[in-house]
Amino acid sequence: MMAVAIVTGASKGIGKATSSLLKEHGYTVVSISRTMPEVGDMRISLDVTDKGSVVKVVEELVNKFGGVDVLVNNAGFGVYGKFTDTSLDEEEYMIKTNLVAPIVFTKLVLPHMLKKGSGSIVNVVSEAAYVSTTTLAVYSASKAGLASFTNSLWATVSKMGIKVSGIYPGPVKTNFTSHPSFAGMKTNIFDKYAVEAEDVARAVLKGIRTGKREIYVPSRLKVDPYFLKLSSIMQEITYRLIRRYF
Ligand SMILES: NC(=O)c1ccc[n+]([C@@H]2O[C@H](COP(=O)([O-])OP(=O)(O)OC[C@H]3O[C@@H](n4cnc5c(N)ncnc54)[C@H](OP(=O)(O)O)[C@@H]3O)[C@@H](O)[C@H]2O)c1
Repeated sequence: MMAVAIVTGASKGIGKATSSLLKEHGYTVVSISRTMPEVGDMRISLDVTDKGSVVKVVEELVNKFGGVDVLVNNAGFGVYGKFTDTSLDEEEYMIKTNLVAPIVFTKLVLPHMLKKGSGSIVNVVSEAAYVSTTTLAVYSASKAGLASFTNSLWATVSKMGIKVSGIYPGPVKTNFTSHPSFAGMKTNIFDKYAVEAEDVARAVLKGIRTGKREIYVPSRLKVDPYFLKLSSIMQEITYRLIRRYF
């Protein structure tokens, strides 16, 4: 029987590329997003912050397939702007989407994976988990929370046969910046340095297969956390530069 993979945020960008890649690699792909996804063996329209519906959908999937082999928590968005100017309602919704929903999905699929003694959980985090700019304060906080959750989960269940991986992309060419708040973005680093959604999808597949705790896209970004954690001097300089220019 083919392995069953849930991909959230699958209507666009990284999620859509991931659903396509997993299908190519023989997974039975369950694609989820608010607008109906175009790719997937099962396509479900669902808001990942709607906990009651998420519980129902995951129960139905477990009953239909006898479990879930792969969970890719990818659905997410950013609210851009200085914390002094952004909307609290939007930020609360963002925390529910980027952080609470992955925890809920994980809580629901993990017991079935543990029963089988196998499975993969891949969380699409962000470089922003480690590098906080002045214009993505709550987004960074949501991703730092997701990074922390991912690391803790990795430490808890990777010795029980479950592969857990966090993906840390820098800028990616997707619809991410189409959120209205990005209209005020001054320096568009996305155009200059962004990688393709397919590059991140390949990293997700690597995470599913290896359970590597952190995967950076592009891989040179892996210096970021060390850079920030190990050198307090460099950290101070980095944040001073951020305060000045971003
Ligand atoms: N693009 C970047 O530069 C970048 C960098 C680092 C990390 N990331 C992360 O990568 C992930 C995917 O983003 P992307 O860049 O591919 O952006 P995207 O093109 O805007 O795609 C976001 C996906 O998430 C779905 N989504 C958003 N809110 C949802 C909700 N409440 N319920 C269900 N689905 C929801 C969207 O579908 P619907 O609107 O149809 O619901 C869409 O399919 C996010 O977690 C993002 O934080 C992106």
